[in-house]
Amino acid sequence: MAMADSSCLHRPHVVVVPLPAQGHINALMHFSKTLAARGILITFLTTERLHHRIFRRPHQEISATLQDHHGLHIRFQVMPDDMLPDGGGATKIGELFEALQNKVGPMMEQLLRKVNEEGPPITCILSDSFFASTHQVASSLKVPRVVFWPYCAAASVAQANTQLLISQGFIPVKAEDVKNPTKLITCLPGIPPLLPKDLRSFYQEKCSSDLMFHTQVYESEIQNKADWVLVNTFEELEGTESIQALSKGYPAQAVGPVFLGEFLQGEHSFPKDIIRTSLWEENEECMRWLEKQAPTSVLYVSFGSYTLMSREQVQELALGLEGSEQPFMWVIRPDLVEGECSALPGDYLHRIKDQGLLVNWAPQLKVLSHPSMGGFLTHNGWNSTIESISMGVPMIGWPYWSEQFLNCRFSREMWKVGMDLECKADENGLVNSVEIEKVVRNLMQGNEGRELRKNAANLKEAAIKAVMPGGSSHTNIDTFVEHIRNLSQ
Ligand code: UDX
Repeated sequence: MAMADSSCLHRPHVVVVPLPAQGHINALMHFSKTLAARGILITFLTTERLHHRIFRRPHQEISATLQDHHGLHIRFQVMPDDMLPDGGGATKIGELFEALQNKVGPMMEQLLRKVNEEGPPITCILSDSFFASTHQVASSLKVPRVVFWPYCAAASVAQANTQLLISQGFIPVKAEDVKNPTKLITCLPGIPPLLPKDLRSFYQEKCSSDLMFHTQVYESEIQNKADWVLVNTFEELEGTESIQALSKGYPAQAVGPVFLGEFLQGEHSFPKDIIRTSLWEENEECMRWLEKQAPTSVLYVSFGSYTLMSREQVQELALGLEGSEQPFMWVIRPDLVEGECSALPGDYLHRIKDQGLLVNWAPQLKVLSHPSMGGFLTHNGWNSTIESISMGVPMIGWPYWSEQFLNCRFSREMWKVGMDLECKADENGLVNSVEIEKVVRNLMQGNEGRELRKNAANLKEAAIKAVMPGGSSHTNIDTFVEHIRNLSQ
């Protein structure tokens, strides 16, 4: 293992521990870059498999576990991951959380002890809110633990109050309360009333014997044991009260949208291609296709990194997009379709060749910021939602699981930048092509779409203001960095 170079020796040193999943790695890497740009040394913890997928290097090179990046002071520490379940997808998620809670701690502690000895000494651990092992590790190393919520404040408050929701009978969430809610959840501090369906999908009654249900309840107990709390939202979007509600006596601050500061600075300050975090190869060619499209004419379609779709649903979506007669760019991840990969009709590509483009994985931030963007059909993962909001792109929400239902409803009802497609599903959960066609036309061509686009433009302005010097998130980051500096003295 390499020793710290002399330019790092006197820097505050933050160990960043993301959950090994795409959305979580992206958010924490963006925030790491922000901290690094302010003179903090970052050690970013990944697992071996993820590191390999991100950097696409042979195994031997990865085992040289420490890398410094030109002037950025971000280095990577790789944890062996033979105790973590292999393969992605929804079915493994409970096993992954269980392993992260129960198996990783001792190995992480050993690794970080070494990092600490080699110096500079660790100032604090900045942990994804869903990585409970870091609590024990931070206590053993006697360093503070900062909890980073990669979700909106409302979803984070709900998760942090899981015990309260259990005691009030809202968790497990009953199927009839999801279908026909008779009462609102008004007991959560600082946030607007929630519907039962807004709670994390893992808390539904039908899942109450699943590993994921129990790991989430356990996580919620640990999430409240922190020295400082940060959340990937901005005050102008969710209000300070919802952010303060995440505090149990320690500071809680909104520091988002975490990608935006870096993005606004363009290619100049950060070598983006050196620290990329996509687990799939990004199709850069699609930017050329976008160049040929008229302003605000293209619908971007993507469902993040975990969503699975049935073959039948993919076929309906394909027909709906085609039938809408709007230009579209659709990300079909290699593992999006359950079972068979060849879900699209044989001549589909030929039929849509003048209308649409299909890619495996897109450079989403670049795509959303392109002037041709007119709308985003999304699963409402929090990263996609806040990225769309910050780029002024209105959404059609089609949530799949987790807290995405809350993100979708808030986008529609509170922030007024979204429509809902999931509510059009039949009793088997299938949304047919006619409904898809209608909602796409409405967003791209209708009056409602125009209104949402205006609202999205206003929120974009607010997001940009928040991350610029003097803005709410920028100021909060200054306060946090100051605190880290004081800790390291
Ligand atoms: C998961 C959960 O599903 C989500 O509910 C939770 O809010 C965060 O963790 P994921 O499903 O991957 O995340 O969705 P999302 O949060 O939207 O993150 C996806 C990330 O991948 C985004 O940062 C997006 O920019 C990026 N992406 C996605 C690409 O870079 N290219 C693509 O083609 C698709």
